[in-house]
Amino acid sequence: MDDLSTTAPAPSETPAAAGRVPTIRVENVYKTYDLGEIQVRALRGISLDIYPGEFVAIMGASGSGKSTLMNILGCLDRPTKGRYLLDGKDVSGLTKRELAKIRSQRIGFVFQQFNLLSRTSALENVELPTIYAGVPMQERTRRAKEALDRVGLADRAGHFPSQLSGGQQQRVAIARGLVNNPSLLLADEPTGNLDSRTSVEIMGILQKLNDEHGLTVVIVTHEHDIAQYAKRAIEFRDGRIRNDVLIQNRLIAEEVLPTLPAPDEGLIDALGNGASAPPNGSATQKK
Ligand SMILES: Nc1ncnc2c1ncn2[C@@H]1O[C@H](COP(=O)(O)OP(=O)(O)O)[C@@H](O)[C@H]1O
Ligand SMILES: [Mg+2]
Repeated sequence: MDDLSTTAPAPSETPAAAGRVPTIRVENVYKTYDLGEIQVRALRGISLDIYPGEFVAIMGASGSGKSTLMNILGCLDRPTKGRYLLDGKDVSGLTKRELAKIRSQRIGFVFQQFNLLSRTSALENVELPTIYAGVPMQERTRRAKEALDRVGLADRAGHFPSQLSGGQQQRVAIARGLVNNPSLLLADEPTGNLDSRTSVEIMGILQKLNDEHGLTVVIVTHEHDIAQYAKRAIEFRDGRIRNDVLIQNRLIAEEVLPTLPAPDEGLIDALGNGASAPPNGSATQKK
């Protein structure tokens, strides 16, 4: 049977990629979860290059292996078979401790659930990874403030997560992911818990980091609309790459946002005259 990942259009073969070291190189990676009785073959021969400055959306049905791949890319887990090279260095054989070090220096993570510490201010949440990375005390706060500034939240440094909206909490989580100046930002369903306008705002922040700072960004999303903000979309199916394409007519969050209802208007519509929501039971099924 043909391996689809080798037949898909490969942006890695474009002239722009010639001679450059990929940030991510995945070579024929397999991941099997051994549950005793059964074995789950989550990844079945993935090969993939992602170059500096790319913005990739990984798509595919639930259970298709997206998070498994992200965990490997983020050095949280290792392949069962195959190689993973990060910035040209093979990390597939490293120990957990070595992986943890690489992770804290080069990779930022953002999760669907934000994963902020609730009794801890935004600033302290953002500072946390600098502690693990051994950044001197006086430098930590400066870096954390700078990271909060990059996501437009400098004025919320003292707020606790419960005092912030979902979108603001996710921005704090992005700042936390940026604080050690990684070259790679990984985000697994970063907009999965957010309404559509807030999702576009988050994509806007990721676009800005990608454009202005050259940060390589890889997100997982199951929403087609959200993938349109990336530059490249990779579709998974049953642990394999089914499709790998450059995004045509990419959406730019800065252009889309003014066309969306402002948050307060949306709220008034939803709560007030009901114009934006059909009454219960009136949904018509189109065939
Ligand atoms: N830690 C684990 N142990 C056992 N099976 C797992 C584990 N993580 C994921 N799986 C299984 O591997 C497959 C791929 O899962 P996952 O990578 O989470 O998919 P996705 O993120 O695309 O929804 C699924 O069948 C899932 O049940
Ligand atoms: Mg997942």
